[in-house]
This record gives sequence, structure tokens and C-alpha cells, in this order.
Amino acid sequence: MCGIVGAVSTRNIVPILVQGLQRLEYRGYDSCGVAVHQGGALRRSRSTARVAELRQQIDADGVASGTGIAHTRWATHGAPVVHNAHPHFSGGKIALVHNGIIENHDELRAELQAKGYVFESQTDTEVIAHLVAHLYDGDLFDTVQRAVARLHGAYAIAVFCRDEPHRVVGARYGSPLVLGLGDDADPEARYLASDAMALAGVTDRIVYLEEGDVVDLQLGKHWISERLADDNFAPVLRDVKIVHAHTGAAELGPYRHYMQKEIFEQPRAIADTLEGVEGITPELFGDGAYRVFKAIDRVLILACGTSYYSGSTAKYWLESIARIPTSVEIASEYRYRDSVPDPRTLVVTISQSGETADTLAALKHARSLGMPHTLTICNVATSAMVRECELAYITRAGVEVGVASTKAFTTQLAGLFLLTLALAQVRGTTTPEQEAVHLKAMRHLPVALQAVLALEPQVVAWAEAFARKENALFLGRGLHYPIALEGALKLKEISYIHAEAYPAGELKHGPLALVTSAMPVVTVAPNDALLEKLKSNLQEVRARGGELFVFADADTRIENAEGLHVIRMPEHYGALSPILHVVPLQLLAYHTACARGTDVDKPRNLAKSVTVE
Ligand code: F6R
Repeated sequence: MCGIVGAVSTRNIVPILVQGLQRLEYRGYDSCGVAVHQGGALRRSRSTARVAELRQQIDADGVASGTGIAHTRWATHGAPVVHNAHPHFSGGKIALVHNGIIENHDELRAELQAKGYVFESQTDTEVIAHLVAHLYDGDLFDTVQRAVARLHGAYAIAVFCRDEPHRVVGARYGSPLVLGLGDDADPEARYLASDAMALAGVTDRIVYLEEGDVVDLQLGKHWISERLADDNFAPVLRDVKIVHAHTGAAELGPYRHYMQKEIFEQPRAIADTLEGVEGITPELFGDGAYRVFKAIDRVLILACGTSYYSGSTAKYWLESIARIPTSVEIASEYRYRDSVPDPRTLVVTISQSGETADTLAALKHARSLGMPHTLTICNVATSAMVRECELAYITRAGVEVGVASTKAFTTQLAGLFLLTLALAQVRGTTTPEQEAVHLKAMRHLPVALQAVLALEPQVVAWAEAFARKENALFLGRGLHYPIALEGALKLKEISYIHAEAYPAGELKHGPLALVTSAMPVVTVAPNDALLEKLKSNLQEVRARGGELFVFADADTRIENAEGLHVIRMPEHYGALSPILHVVPLQLLAYHTACARGTDVDKPRNLAKSVTVE
């Protein structure tokens, strides 16, 4: 989703701005742009193509300066066309980029139009540019403080003014923004970015701005002010952290797409996530976890999309192994509904990026209702989610570039299983022997996953048939119902085939009406306690001429037959079976999308990190 980079320096910072945009590219965007202070005026280049093309355009235009801002945009207000791309200008004086959504933009637009401001775009961002221009009094830092006090909604902004050539001002509320301090090579430089990763290799000295902060960047100095409850601002000091941010996308190697690479990285990602876990102890989740786990008697999981499905799987573990009542809520729903808070709840957020706006808002909402105990399972140690939560488990999936989440999902499941075992230990619901058996199974996961990945050629053969379909039904039961949901989501998002998932027992209550020979029915069939029930559900499908595609554990004795295609998985893997069963569903979605020729790593309309509501 949208990304921001900004800088002031005595050297030309345009290459750093463009490199920063390239590091943020994987999040998904539909246009990009750079604006600089050059020759006493504002200059900009914008494009609806890739950042690489923007770079060529910048070189051709001779754009160079020590002061500038840059942006990747994921359209919310207004189509992805050049005139809506950031940076936006006001009156040849103000240049501004923005992440987030301004909720009162209509009202502000009307007010500014009445004052004579002419709008060139449909964006909410241009409203902020004109507002800053309108309030400008010769001091950009002071002006931005007065401007943001008028905004409702979420924002991270970077702005500069023609009349103050060596100054960039940033502000954040509800969208992340960091300040970077120059290194030995350029001590005078100051940087802004929506993610420290954009500054990897440029500086490792990072200040995480807090909600409501406004920051003033000048050569060799900076100031931060915090927004007080009465909308006034007061100077504040924020800690400088040393952050060894990774540089984002790795090489593709022998793979066609990042998604394929990431599916195949899962054995390594799980092994890394479990590295250092010598035994089960609450302290795996941070200091003081034992005290917190003792103080709670229910779990509330908040997440979105794929992360919500990992939470839905964990509910089965938490209730059956740790015997702790667990509810799982879609973050965007939870934050706006009336719920009954219980202070003895452990609020668990799950997020690959750690920046998902809905999940962050749901977390804050839960806390505001009087539930102080929070824990996150997150893949980015430096993210807002980790900083906001009392406890954390950092998954080590590594950077996930493909928009469709794969290795982040399975490593989340690994983290959630550890949480289950730690809670079970504190609550006395597992014996040391049972715990040791579970831990051994976890450690064996990388090997077990290799065996599943070896099924790829068989999945490719199925994918050819799927590529010609427009609908698909996914079935699972119990612990594997969320896996069916995740399989359907993967297929939808990258192949654009409409897919629905149901608990298999629900078929006869409605969806069976959809079953014809044209409807492929994908079934997750582990050899668990529900297998016989599931086999009856498969008969219901076959009796209606439905074509079944079944991923069956080796020990299930489900055999290929007319209208019944079987891919044989390894033997049943007990409680951890969902981690194995999701993999062929990822491969099915991936190869179906390839056969349909879609943009697998950047599916239409989707962004990697959803930082707006
Ligand atoms: C789907 C997918 C999304 C994310 C969701 C939450 O493949 O990746 O559904 O899971 O947007 O993102 P995070 O986990 O970053 O909070």
C-alpha cells in the first residue's frame, strides 16, 4: 500500500528517494512520484508505471536536489491516473505526500474551493496540500501543526515549501512514519519514511514517531512535537533506535514468482521461527509473560484476511489443548461493534506486516475497553503492532514479497501453537510428556513440509483443469475448516476464480444446490476424528455429479475413482496437520493463476500492507 520517503541533505537525495520507493514497491501500488526543491521552485515527476520507469523519467528530466519527497500510491480516492498520483502541489508553493484517509476531505475541499483553491485531482491528499498552503505563515513546522489539527481520519504526511529550501516536515496519526538520522557519510542528512525498510543501507538510526507527532527536518537538526489532548503541541524527545532493517526483496533464484519461492521457503521459515525454542516457557513471548498468562482466563484474537484464518485455526488448539475459551474476530468488525469486555482477556493480534490499520485500531479499541493484556504474533519486529503490544512472538518468515500470504501464514500457525503450549503449561492442561510430543512434532515440521512440497507436479496437473473454471467450492471440517477458507481466499485473490469455503457438514444446508459437474469441489481430508463424517459429505457431492478434488492423508484409504481425484498427503500429522494441509492449497492457487496468466505476485486491486481502513 502507499509508501513515503523524504529527505533533506547537502547532497542530491533523489537516488535515495527512488531506492526507498523501490524497497516499498512489494507492498503494492498503482502510481508513484517524486517532488524536489530545485532552482528555487517545485519540480516533480509522476508515473502510473513502475518505479523503474519513474527513475528513467527523473533522469531524463534532470530532477536533482538535496530536498525532496516521494510516494507510492494505492488508490483510495480517485482512479490510479497521473493527476491523482502524489506529490500534490498547492500554488507552486507546497508539495505534499500522504498515506491514510482523510474522512472530512469533502468538507475541507468545499471550504478551500470557496476560498479560491482549484483542485487538479480527486484525492483527499490535495485537500491537505491546499490547507497547508492556506495556513502557511512563513514557518512550515508551525503551519503543519495547525493544519493537522483540522484533519479527521488517518494520515502520515511529508511536506516541503518553496520558500524554505532545506526543510521537510512530517506528521503522523494512524499511519506509520519514522525519522532517520544521517550516518557518518552524511551526518547533516535527515530522512522520513513510512517504514524503516525504505532507509535500509542509508541509515540505521531511526526514531519511531508516535501518534500525533509532527517532525521538523532541517540540515543537521530536527525537532519533534507531540499533539496534546487540547490540540496544542509541545516539544518532545523520542528515543533513537538502531534498526538493522532488511532490504526487502531477495533474489528470485530458480522460481518464476516470489509466491512460488515463498511457498517453497516454508520449511526454512518454520525452522527459523522455532530457532532458539529450547523448551516451552511463557517467556518465549517476552518478560513478564508468566504473570500475564496467570492473570487471564480467555483469549480474544483480532486479525484480518489470512491472519484471521490462522487465528481461526488457533482457536481449535487453544480450546482443545489449553482449555481456554477463545474468540476470533475480524478486526474491522470488532472495532466498530458493541462487545462485552472482560479485563481477564489476553488480546492477541496476528499480523504479517504489523501495520494493518484495522488490526491496530481493533487492538487500541480492545485496550480502551479495559483489556490491558496484549500479545502479538507478528513477522516484523520493528512494526507498530510489536511496539503497541505488551508481549510478542516474532515469526521469522523473512520478507514476504508476494501479495498473497503463504509463509507468513504457516509461521503464524507455528507461533500460535507455541502460545497454545505455553498457556496449556501455565494452566496445567498438558503433561510434560504431552508437551514434549507436541514439541517434537513441531521440530519435525520442516521435514514433513518437504514431503508435501514434493507433491507439486500432481497439483500442477489439477491446476490445468481449474484454470478453465470460474467457480470452486472448498470443504473442510473442524481444525481444517479455516484451512479450506484460506485455500479459497488464495484461489480468489490470485486467479480471480470465485471460490467459497464451507464446513463440509453445512453443505446440505444450502451450498449443495451449487454442486453440478461444472463445480470443482476441493476437500481437505485429514485422517482425524471427523474423517467418516467427511466421507459422507463427499458422497453427497458425488451423488449430485460433483467433481471432487481431495487432499487425503495417506492413511485415509480414499481412492481415485470416477469424479473423485485424490492427491495423497503424508500420514496424518495430528494437531499440526493444518500446517501441512494448507501447502497444496497454496500450490493449487499458484499454478491455477499461472495457467490463467495473472500477475501472481501483484494481483489486481490488492496491496501487501493494508495501512488504510
Ligand atoms: C491474503 C493476505 C491478506 C492479509 C491481511 C492482513 O493473502 O495476505 O488477507 O493477511 O491483509 O495482513 P497482515 O497479516 O499484514 O495484518
